[in-house]
Amino acid sequence: MNAEFKIDGKIIETERLILRPFRQSDLEDFYNYAKVDGVGEMAGWRHHENRQKTQQILDNFINEDKTFAIFYKKDGKLIGSLGVEKYGKEEVLSEFFDYQGREIGYVLSKDYWGKGIMPEAVTAVINYLFNEQNLDFLLCGYYDFNVQSKRVQEKCGFKPYRKLVMDTRLGTKEQGTLNLLANPNKNITFKFSHPETLIYGN
Ligand SMILES: CC(C)(COP(=O)(O)OP(=O)(O)OC[C@H]1O[C@@H](n2cnc3c(N)ncnc32)[C@H](O)[C@@H]1OP(=O)(O)O)[C@@H](O)C(=O)NCCC(=O)NCCS
Repeated sequence: MNAEFKIDGKIIETERLILRPFRQSDLEDFYNYAKVDGVGEMAGWRHHENRQKTQQILDNFINEDKTFAIFYKKDGKLIGSLGVEKYGKEEVLSEFFDYQGREIGYVLSKDYWGKGIMPEAVTAVINYLFNEQNLDFLLCGYYDFNVQSKRVQEKCGFKPYRKLVMDTRLGTKEQGTLNLLANPNKNITFKFSHPETLIYGN
């Protein structure tokens, strides 16, 4: 099932990054990366056409308190986001009924791609969720055209779990892959349902 999760003021520091809750003062940096065509589209949302759109999403991030802002220490800029989202189809994925988990999603400013920044952020959040929040599993997905995100998930230890047609916020459908990572501190053996989409362990 979906674990309860709030950032609740938590700050995670890595070698190059600070992960912290979003603030109203992040608007300009957020808009600067969210307005770039072809970034949000890889994650299933349309790039922001104006600051009002960014403001609306920023307000949601602040109210919902489940999306970390990714702050790059070197230049003092807000360069991306990492959400600890609820996973979907909770009521049919019986393998997770007795376990607590969430789904991770992320976006990085195009100016910072290819430096291993997102694997650094995702690894830090995985460690926090498994070692301090005691979650049992995490899911993370990508549309099959998105090899960059596929690589991030591979580098962070996720394993292919299901092949699915996924809805996008653009109203389209895309073939995608959902990945799974079980908490290595626990001895979890999942009894998987729905073999028609399952690829885990194959
Ligand atoms: C996916 C994303 C977060 C990757 O972050 P990152 O910090 O650049 O990740 P990495 O540096 O580990 O690079 C991952 C892969 O991207 C590719 N890549 C590297 N530099 C790149 C560049 N400048 N342009 C395009 N792709 C590049 C490489 O295939 C790399 O894999 P490799 O390290 O095995 O060569 C980033 O590309 C992004 O924000 N994309 C748009 C939003 C998105 O796709 N979100 C995820 C939705 S599931």
